[in-house]
Amino acid sequence: MIKLVKARDYKDMSRKAANIISAQVILKPDSVLGLATGSTPIGTYQTLQHWCEKGDLDFFHVKTVNLDEYVGLDGKHDQSYRYFMNQNLFNHVNIVPANTHVPDGSNLDAEAECERYHEVIESMGGIDLQLLGIGNNGHIGFNEPCEEFPVNTHKVELTRSTIEANSRLFDSIDDVPRYAYTMGIGEIMGAKTILILASGKAKAPIIKELLEGPVTPHVPASILKMHSNVILIADEDARSLLTIE
Ligand code: PGA
Repeated sequence: MIKLVKARDYKDMSRKAANIISAQVILKPDSVLGLATGSTPIGTYQTLQHWCEKGDLDFFHVKTVNLDEYVGLDGKHDQSYRYFMNQNLFNHVNIVPANTHVPDGSNLDAEAECERYHEVIESMGGIDLQLLGIGNNGHIGFNEPCEEFPVNTHKVELTRSTIEANSRLFDSIDDVPRYAYTMGIGEIMGAKTILILASGKAKAPIIKELLEGPVTPHVPASILKMHSNVILIADEDARSLLTIE
């Protein structure tokens, strides 16, 4: 079941999300947080940074595991997700760098890297709270629409829709990597709490599909309806096509 939390706008969504993550860390200081990249969580990360600077939040014992990474980009590339996480959160809070995990896009041995990453997740004892954005096509992490739900970390070929959506961040669409490593649906569903964020009119069709459509691997996020503890924070624009309120 998905619990819908209504936010007014991006700022309100970000503050509400930061509150939930903050509560998680206060209740369990050594929480394992599953983290996401993209435009959606940036405001949440800024809010967490701010609270950490003020001394209201402590990341010292927190461990993190990110959803995904482009294959072929190493952590120094400014479009890699490791770089994004360092810039948007890790460099600004008191987290121990060795406790932050992102798939290694520079390891081109997909089988070895996916197995290693699965082990990382297992060795942490699973994820306490997983933060998610949602792609326009319903992807979570880089689990793209397909015929069945992939269980564990794997290499995926990105769909045209994702490449086009992400090309805004690269010099040209030809520079967008074609493959990524991503946590699987089974690993994501193993999280005790899942927090999914959506903001803006572009997300309205997929939020409608998510909440009002069937569970199908053609809309990977739809599987979240089978989890017992999922919170969706959606702003007014993202909720604008919903018939249920
Ligand atoms: P966005 O990406 O936050 O940049 O919209 C979400 C996603 O693709 O998961």
